Amino acid sequence: MKKKLKWLVIGCGAAFLLLQLTNPPRTNPPVKADLIATLNPPAPVAASLIAACYDCHSHQTKWPWYAHIAPVSWLVVKDTNDGRDALDFSEWPTNDSETAADQLDGMSKKVTNNKMPPSKYTAIHQDARLTAEQRKTLTDWLDATATKLNSAPK
Ligand code: HEC
Repeated sequence: MKKKLKWLVIGCGAAFLLLQLTNPPRTNPPVKADLIATLNPPAPVAASLIAACYDCHSHQTKWPWYAHIAPVSWLVVKDTNDGRDALDFSEWPTNDSETAADQLDGMSKKVTNNKMPPSKYTAIHQDARLTAEQRKTLTDWLDATATKLNSAPK
């Protein structure tokens, strides 16, 4: 019985080690045009964006330790890749005020509806939990900037 248990533990350990060969690459490609550098929001807005959005929507992801351990790494890397595909603050449309305004509008909606940042993210990342006041400061700025960009000469 004891011997069987020993082999079971060794087997599981080996399987876990083999699983680590399947860790997907954690990338941070070069930043092309950064949202904050382009639009220069007030410090509290920039701080909220960095704390609550940049890990999944930029090329400046701070990869946590568990992003190095399969199978959790699969989920974290997939979320970040999907987030970047949907909206990328490191490829900000600097020369297209219409697209930029659309993206800011979309962000404002997601923050207002409490859809972003995702709750599975804020469950782990305490500093990404925005207060009602932080949300309002953020969405006020997003809305005002979208309006400004929309009225910019085309
Ligand atoms: C845990 C990773 C994660 C964080 C943190 C995060 N997002 Fe997302 N976001 C995603 C993913 C994945 C998608 C694409 C799937 C979806 O729409 O749910 C997405 C989609 C979006 C979209 C829709 C884009 C489109 O046009 O489809 C907007 C807007 C958005 N996020 C804004 C934000 C904002 C603003 C923040 C910060 C307040 C934020 N997100 C934080 C992962 C994240």
